[in-house]
Amino acid sequence: MSQIGWPPRRPFPQDMTTGEEHPLGTWGPSLKCLRWASIVLPIAFLVLLDILRRSFFERHVGTLPGLLVFYVVVIVGVVLFALTIFRIVEILQRRIVDQNRQLAALNDIASVAASSAPLTDILNASLHQILPSMKADAGLVCIIDAEQEEHSVACYTGFSRDMVKGIQRAKLKDDHVAYEVYRTGRPVLNEDVFADPGVHDRARQEGIAAFVSAPLKSEGEVHGILALGNHKKRRYSDDDRKFLEGIGGQLGTAIRKAMLYEQAQSQNREMSALLAVGRVVTSSFDMDELLNASLDTLLQVTSANTAEVWLLVDGEESLTQRCVRGLHKEAFMEQTSLGVGAGLPGRVAQSGSIVLYHDLPSHPEFLRKQVLQAGFQTYSALPLNYRGKLVGVLAVAALSPDALRNQGEVRILEGVGEWLAVAIENSRLYQQVQDAAVIQERERLAREMHDGMAQLLGYVNTQTIAVKKLLSDERLTDALDELRRMEDVVRDLYADVREGILGLRTAALKHGSLLAALEEYSQRYMDLSGITVALAGDGRLPALSPSTEVQLMRILQEALTNVRKHSRATHVTVGIHGTDASLGITITDNGAGFDMARLPARGWPRFGLQTMRERAEAVGGTLAIESTLGRGTTVLVSVPVAGQRA
Ligand SMILES: Nc1ncnc2c1ncn2[C@@H]1O[C@H](COP(=O)(O)OP(=O)(O)OP(=O)(O)O)[C@@H](O)[C@H]1O
Ligand SMILES: [Mg+2]
Repeated sequence: MSQIGWPPRRPFPQDMTTGEEHPLGTWGPSLKCLRWASIVLPIAFLVLLDILRRSFFERHVGTLPGLLVFYVVVIVGVVLFALTIFRIVEILQRRIVDQNRQLAALNDIASVAASSAPLTDILNASLHQILPSMKADAGLVCIIDAEQEEHSVACYTGFSRDMVKGIQRAKLKDDHVAYEVYRTGRPVLNEDVFADPGVHDRARQEGIAAFVSAPLKSEGEVHGILALGNHKKRRYSDDDRKFLEGIGGQLGTAIRKAMLYEQAQSQNREMSALLAVGRVVTSSFDMDELLNASLDTLLQVTSANTAEVWLLVDGEESLTQRCVRGLHKEAFMEQTSLGVGAGLPGRVAQSGSIVLYHDLPSHPEFLRKQVLQAGFQTYSALPLNYRGKLVGVLAVAALSPDALRNQGEVRILEGVGEWLAVAIENSRLYQQVQDAAVIQERERLAREMHDGMAQLLGYVNTQTIAVKKLLSDERLTDALDELRRMEDVVRDLYADVREGILGLRTAALKHGSLLAALEEYSQRYMDLSGITVALAGDGRLPALSPSTEVQLMRILQEALTNVRKHSRATHVTVGIHGTDASLGITITDNGAGFDMARLPARGWPRFGLQTMRERAEAVGGTLAIESTLGRGTTVLVSVPVAGQRA
């Protein structure tokens, strides 16, 4: 059992000082005794002298021996008195020297404690001041972790390394003296450890005969303990107690200050870690990309060496390992599928509560033997919940049993878990939307092919039969006219097909590359149609959602196709005007223009304008067309930028 003050096995007398002053710090007559002696001795001497004078000297006063005895008695009395007084003066002198030394030490400790040096340096320097001032042979300072109810040695001198190891991160409740000091906020002193048969063996092994365990307090709270030991039994004076009280205040405040600083630092770390992961999870919809990046960030900001994410699959019956990052990845991939309830991740998925172990090998529920062989000691797993529904499990592991001890790290894990749950769900939804968009696009293509190409090919087929008939009737001129019409139709169809292929190639638009895709498309369009395209604007696009980018590209393609098909234009200008809230794109040609009012309401083959409008509205935008006969047409599409859409 770990002990700071080597408590006896039986109930320990809390304070063994007598209240008498022993400034020499050793056993012997106290100052109080000597004071009384200096008063009582002269009186006793005078009384004795008077009795002697009356009984003995009266008869022999005239004789020489009588006179000699009288003088001897007087001289002895005076010498004894003088010696007592000298002793008192010496004791007082030593006391003043000791007090001065303690005051000087206290002063030094106060200035060290107020400095901005690291806490261990402050405690070390202070301990080296305290030891001579308290005439102690050994000393140590423990810091208390109130949250965990543990104490750990911050610095020591004069004690063996084994002893210090034995009390590292010990539970306060297992150490009677430390717990007593922590609970009462008062020092515990033992002036003669060996006179107490119940004393702990550790004290004997260390050769400690007397000790004091004093609280290091700030604002009434005990933040640490100072333990001092002597190899010889001794007494502690009131001055010692006052000195310890003064030190307790100074060092207690220093520890509190360091704790607050550490707390602020760790909150800072937590915040920036969460921000970093937050940035990562919102930067991509790609599940693997976002999991990889999030786990890498998590490993950078915590003491974990490896991190893994399990996702709920198979109608929520089992977990699949989706991502592992960090050390010994292969060991963690020994098993990549677990039933809910099996293994530690499975148990977490079942119970919905976090687990944290620092002695992984002693938990048989952990199934992956290779992970244990690799030496992992710490393992923590927590459920990933999105709106109360389990989506997976996040787990981290570390080789050191001391990893993830800090509450701040656990809070980071929980925060990252929340982010990840949202990101995983978002990514799944995005995938669903993408799948739906692909199906929609296929349907549109099928409709276009049916309404456009199939109809025209049907026409060509019918006309071929008609031409054959005309030829067999030898109506060559009519057949030639028909063939010319067919040639026009087939040329248009050919252009449509090539443009359609170009559109399909550009459809696989990568997020964020709209401008590049637009430039590439314009170039190919120019080659294909002979119409020049000029891009106008500052060359920068505001942030757009992936679906907005796809729809914009499709609108542009249709507008340019219309220019080629209907306008007889020679030049098109594509203007791009972005603001913080929206993006406007104009496609202006110098062609024939058309009268909107004269267009048939709906139906084949004219669904281009209608689809353009539907596409703009699907992403929260609007589409307008301005056209003047003989002066060209402008298509104006406006869409909100990412994050602005209600
Ligand atoms: N830039 C333009 N210049 C001149 N006329 C245009 C222009 N854009 C559209 N039009 C006219 O508007 C009509 C409707 O266009 P819309 O795109 O809806 O149908 P379409 O191009 O004829 O057929 P589809 O697009 O379905 O293949 C066109 O037929 C054409 O008369
Ligand atoms: Mg069209």
